Amino acid sequence: MTPVLYSVCDVTVRYRDVTALDSLSLDVLEGERLALLGANGSGKSTLLRVLDGLIFPASGAVRFDGEELTEERLTDREFAFRFRRRVGLVFQNPDVQLFNPTVFDEIAFGPLQLRWPKEQIRQRVEETLDSMGIAHLRDRSPHQLSGGERKRVALASVAILDPAVLLLDEPAGALDPESQSQIIDQIHSWRGGRKTIITATHDLGSLEEIADRCVIFEKGRIIGQGTPMDILHDVPLLGRARLLSVQAHAHAGEVSTSHPHLHR
Ligand SMILES: Nc1ncnc2c1ncn2[C@@H]1O[C@H](COP(=O)(O)OP(=O)(O)OP(=O)(O)O)[C@@H](O)[C@H]1O
Ligand SMILES: [Mg+2]
Repeated sequence: MTPVLYSVCDVTVRYRDVTALDSLSLDVLEGERLALLGANGSGKSTLLRVLDGLIFPASGAVRFDGEELTEERLTDREFAFRFRRRVGLVFQNPDVQLFNPTVFDEIAFGPLQLRWPKEQIRQRVEETLDSMGIAHLRDRSPHQLSGGERKRVALASVAILDPAVLLLDEPAGALDPESQSQIIDQIHSWRGGRKTIITATHDLGSLEEIADRCVIFEKGRIIGQGTPMDILHDVPLLGRARLLSVQAHAHAGEVSTSHPHLHR
């Protein structure tokens, strides 16, 4: 049986008077690719922050690989080091993530922290710059790049560490179609248990490629889950979760039989 990697049990997260996650429970299996779907403000990014140990629930518990993920546990340097090596989060807003003077330094930052040998860092940074199509930006300041360029640098800075668990918050958001396809193909190539990947997305068109299972959020709760196929054909659920365009709503009956995004 595939082991449970994350066990989220009855978790409530509040930001002052806003309840962002409301008694939410969810297991994520090792090697599973999970998509988080839901309207703006439904709690997807909040869950990713919880899974990355950046914020902690007001009540309930989160376990990672059998160990409870608490603020106190993460003050243990040895545990925090192991956890941070295994789990990488790409933020929805890349500005939160980028702070180095150049793109090269940004991508080399993680490996430097992990004390990789100098020559290996140089080589891996070059390879990552090439594979993410940002080699021409290497000497630029991350903060003077376009939105899509910044997103690609943020993705590269996490991808270089090759974490076993990737938390991706709208990874294709702000990317041009070619870059979107590259990211989607990359996530697709990690199917079959190669990595555990949890992706928050609004893109129903790529679900089949990026996910084995989808979880649908509404106001901090899970209101449905299933395979991408199940979800894409559950028009009432998609409607309730505000995942259909206005036009699709008007033709909801047709959408379930001929889904325009289903096969790219
Ligand atoms: N730092 C914060 N301070 C206060 N409230 C917040 C904060 N971050 C999020 N919220 C609130 O928590 C709720 C969940 O937000 P979250 O960012 O998790 O949603 P989301 O599903 O990621 O939305 P989106 O699709 O827009 O990215 C929303 O009501 C939001 O306004
Ligand atoms: Mg979000």
